[in-house]
Amino acid sequence: MRSEQPKTVYLKDYRAPDYLIDETHLTFELFEDHTLVHAQLVMRRNPQAGSGLPPLVLDGQQLELLSLAVDDVPLGEGDYQQDDSHLTLQPTRSEFVIDSSVRIHPESNTALEGLYKSGGMFCTQCEAEGFRKITFYLDRPDVMSKFTTTVSAAQRDYPVLLSNGNPIASGHEEDGRHWATWQDPFRKPAYLFALVAGDLWCIEDSFRTMSGRDVALRIYVEPENIGKLQHGMDSLKKSMKWDEEVYGREYDLDIFMIVAVNDFNMGAMENKGLNIFNSSCVLAHPETATDAAHQRVEAVVAHEYFHNWSGNRVTCRDWFQLSLKEGFTVFRDAEFSADMNSRTVKRIEDVAFLRTQQFAEDAGPMAHPVRPDAYMEISNFYTLTIYEKGAEVLRMIHTLLGAEAFRQGSDLYFDRHDGQAVTCDDFIQAMEDASGVDLGQFKRWYTQSGTPRLVVEEAYDPVAHTYSLTFRQSCPPTPGQEHKQPFVIPVAMGLLDAHGHELPLRLAGEAVADGTSRVLAVTEAEQHFTFVDVAHKPLPSLLRGFSAPVKLSFPYSRDQLMFLMQHDSDGFNRWEAGQQLSVQVLQELVDQQQRDEALSLDPRLIAALRSVLADESLDAAMVAEMLSLPAEAYLAELSEVADVDAIHAAREFARAQICAELFDLLWARYQACREQSRSTPYAADAAQIARRSLQNIALSYLALAGSDEVVDVCEEQFEHADNMTERLAAMAVLVNSPFESEKATALAKFADYFKDDALVMDQWFSVQAGSPLPGGLERVEALMHHPAFTLKNPNKVRALIGAFANQNHVNFHRLDGAGYRFLADQVIALNALNPQIASRLLTPLTRWRKFDSARQALMRGELERILASGELSSDVFEVVSKSLV
Ligand code: PHE
Ligand code: ZN
Repeated sequence: MRSEQPKTVYLKDYRAPDYLIDETHLTFELFEDHTLVHAQLVMRRNPQAGSGLPPLVLDGQQLELLSLAVDDVPLGEGDYQQDDSHLTLQPTRSEFVIDSSVRIHPESNTALEGLYKSGGMFCTQCEAEGFRKITFYLDRPDVMSKFTTTVSAAQRDYPVLLSNGNPIASGHEEDGRHWATWQDPFRKPAYLFALVAGDLWCIEDSFRTMSGRDVALRIYVEPENIGKLQHGMDSLKKSMKWDEEVYGREYDLDIFMIVAVNDFNMGAMENKGLNIFNSSCVLAHPETATDAAHQRVEAVVAHEYFHNWSGNRVTCRDWFQLSLKEGFTVFRDAEFSADMNSRTVKRIEDVAFLRTQQFAEDAGPMAHPVRPDAYMEISNFYTLTIYEKGAEVLRMIHTLLGAEAFRQGSDLYFDRHDGQAVTCDDFIQAMEDASGVDLGQFKRWYTQSGTPRLVVEEAYDPVAHTYSLTFRQSCPPTPGQEHKQPFVIPVAMGLLDAHGHELPLRLAGEAVADGTSRVLAVTEAEQHFTFVDVAHKPLPSLLRGFSAPVKLSFPYSRDQLMFLMQHDSDGFNRWEAGQQLSVQVLQELVDQQQRDEALSLDPRLIAALRSVLADESLDAAMVAEMLSLPAEAYLAELSEVADVDAIHAAREFARAQICAELFDLLWARYQACREQSRSTPYAADAAQIARRSLQNIALSYLALAGSDEVVDVCEEQFEHADNMTERLAAMAVLVNSPFESEKATALAKFADYFKDDALVMDQWFSVQAGSPLPGGLERVEALMHHPAFTLKNPNKVRALIGAFANQNHVNFHRLDGAGYRFLADQVIALNALNPQIASRLLTPLTRWRKFDSARQALMRGELERILASGELSSDVFEVVSKSLV
């Protein structure tokens, strides 16, 4: 908790550190009611930061200082100054050694930052600024040091003692305690430090690197989860291989460890050689984890592993550069997942997520550039913009340079900056140097916030046989940025003739055509491209694969969209055409609903979905994606003022119509899929995952018929499925249905069977929290009292409160404001327990500008109530105060 208003930190104020820490020697003595930390720091004046000996200002928070010495001379109270976040002393030599001892209290640390206890184990989370809660230090990423760590604890309760690097010594003490020493040969910033102590079991494997070294791989968990590790281990080995093949990057230590913990603020953390994971991102077993959970594990394991190069070997100079490691690493893990699974489906999922969530962030009060220039609390900047938009920026560089030059650029970046803490500019420089491409204007993607709009017009000249596209780009104002300069927008595109064939693409002035799909670089506010040799007016396929994170509009008719759905050679754009068609049709229903007219669905949507469903040659995963109507959140994002009730009514009406009109086809495909599920043992492979998504979406439509035969198949799937993907989907269908007794039975059976499995219970909470049926808030309030629920576990908070506020629009946005009041109450409670989680939970309230004036007033009222509720953490204060301007 802060004692004064948090200060804003600016990128322009960056200065190199006055002092460096060459070696860091840590000793932890872990006890049940306190922990003692001794730190020996081998320091020297930074030759790059001026002359003389300025005061040394160490970061430190919530530390009880027990002793302090410089070069073995103990310091007394007059020899240093201390406030609630710093310790300042005056060095007298340019090289010196500091010894400090502090007492800390991991056993009562509910913020889950620094050293804390999760269940029976000790663990750490230091990114971004958690190390200062462990010992006095220069807690900034451009101070890199060699760490040696000794951990001691009671052997019976903490038989496993881990830290970064390699184990170099261990031993026993007389009183039942034991100790272990770890040494990390690589210099690293403090945010990559990790320590774990607990009663853990592990599975072990090994990986032979491309240069022939054998690396020991271990995944540690509490004993009851030992059976859920194989998928994580397989994912790790695939990641290691992929990074060698695609980026030429080899692992560098003799051992790589992952530890699963139940209480964790984020997904996982890339600590050097000792990744710490939220158990939800590493544990997976067919009976308890869905296909989506399996894929998430694969992606997060890869993401953290890839950080070993993009983040650890080459790290960030300061936290404004966060996307340097996160955007790049998300791009890397997305490409990995695309290579392991269906590339098109992966892209569809990522784009749907980006457009719903990141675009909303870019349009809200917390909008910031991929490289922000100011923050109050860095924890608030682990955002969709830094991660997902940052990854899109990397993808655009890849598109503009081509795979080969991009690889040369990444090789140069890793070689040039190995062991350094660098900036986004350094990354771009390497890409430019390797490729010869000037990325000067492109860099605006790093400095300008907001989602660009790209309006496209066409003109066909039947006499000259030319076809022109005019692109007009603009970007709406965002906080602190009224006017924007034009971006570089790569538009991958093609032209289709009346038979759906692709035309060769030759721009005016070019000697020959250059393929049938190409990338136009739109760099000006308004720009024309003219294609020649175009015998008949074509239909353009634009922004293929979503080649830039922009809002593109082209005046397609519904018939043209149906044509693209069938004929576009780009799988992503086939899906996108279907989405645009659905959006148009749903928006028409929303208008009808708002005018109190009878709803009537454009039969072309049914026709389009019928042909998709009937086409047995289409990939089942694509069929499932095509059948999924745009989410309510996406429809809200597209609206000027989001009418949540009309959007819900429109979408439900369309779903009911689809069920009524396509029942037989849906039934047949459902039965065929379920039959295969019954006769083949579960595997989390692409073909089966595709089949189950089709099966489950078909079931969700069928249930809208409300007939006995459907209830029966639902119950059959719920009871007899051999995996969580089918069981949970069947339960969700029942939960969202009017079949009260079947619903109650399923929920009770499920909870009884899985009550001891925290991750499964998270899903049980989520499914109920997301149900749009009336009374949602009351159901969530009741579930808060369920014995498996606790505000202290972030996964539980996300599963129940987060799912309610983010996915259950009609209930959360209740007109009496009770949903808002509930969320604000939880934020206030969590502010004292876990500021990072409190601040994240707030997001839906910050979007108040999207709603009608009555709701705006209610949402603002709750933000004001939070602001007035007492001592706010800097996390919550920043978000609330910025949302109210
Ligand atoms: N650096 C982690 C990742 O993206 C995320 C994280 C940030 C975890 C801060 C914990 C705290 O891989
Ligand atoms: Zn990351």
